[in-house]
Amino acid sequence: MKFFVDTADVSEIGDLAATGLLDGVTTNPSLIMKAGRPMAEVVAEICRLVDGPVSAEVAATDFDGMLAEARKLAEIAENIAIKVPLTWDGLKACRTLSGEGRMVNVTLCFNANQALLAGRAGATFISPFIGRLDDIGIDGMELIGEIRTIYDNYDHIETQILAASIRSPNHVKTAAMIGADVATVPPAVLKGLVKHPLTDKGLDAFLADWKKTGQSIL
Ligand code: G3P
Repeated sequence: MKFFVDTADVSEIGDLAATGLLDGVTTNPSLIMKAGRPMAEVVAEICRLVDGPVSAEVAATDFDGMLAEARKLAEIAENIAIKVPLTWDGLKACRTLSGEGRMVNVTLCFNANQALLAGRAGATFISPFIGRLDDIGIDGMELIGEIRTIYDNYDHIETQILAASIRSPNHVKTAAMIGADVATVPPAVLKGLVKHPLTDKGLDAFLADWKKTGQSIL
């Protein structure tokens, strides 16, 4: 499974990129608002920190507007993935942009038929929002499983499942078990994946015993 980080916080991205485990970044208008800086500036900085796909979302809702914005965003860097919403205009824009060889992330996916349409439209990534489904009492992970089954039925669909709206380490684990290709994870959750109290306790005990031996490896 590939890891993307879901943030527009450049310093968080820098820290995570240094681990060598970061494969990409996703942003959205709400994350750009949180960053409180011009989108083009923030996204350009992110693209300098990370080689993999960096999703930048259009704000237009009509086909022509989306294409115009997508082309402008694509000028920022080669690793921009254009994010479009799961609407008919978004799917049309996806088809056009993917036909031009651009990476496209189709976002705000909440059911399997929407994902099937995005696959047919040539999306590079489909973003099912797990946490927001959980919020309304629907198991978001079931959707990941349904999309996996559908995409695996058709060789011509090469769209990667990008599990989004991840809220917990458990979401990451389950998405990986089901076979999501990518998880886009908030920085705090991504950093939390390494944590286990027995790891900390075990390390403390090993280090204490090592000290008692009076040895040094170097
Ligand atoms: O990538 C989409 C994601 O940012 C949405 O997450 O937590 O706002 O539902 P959330």
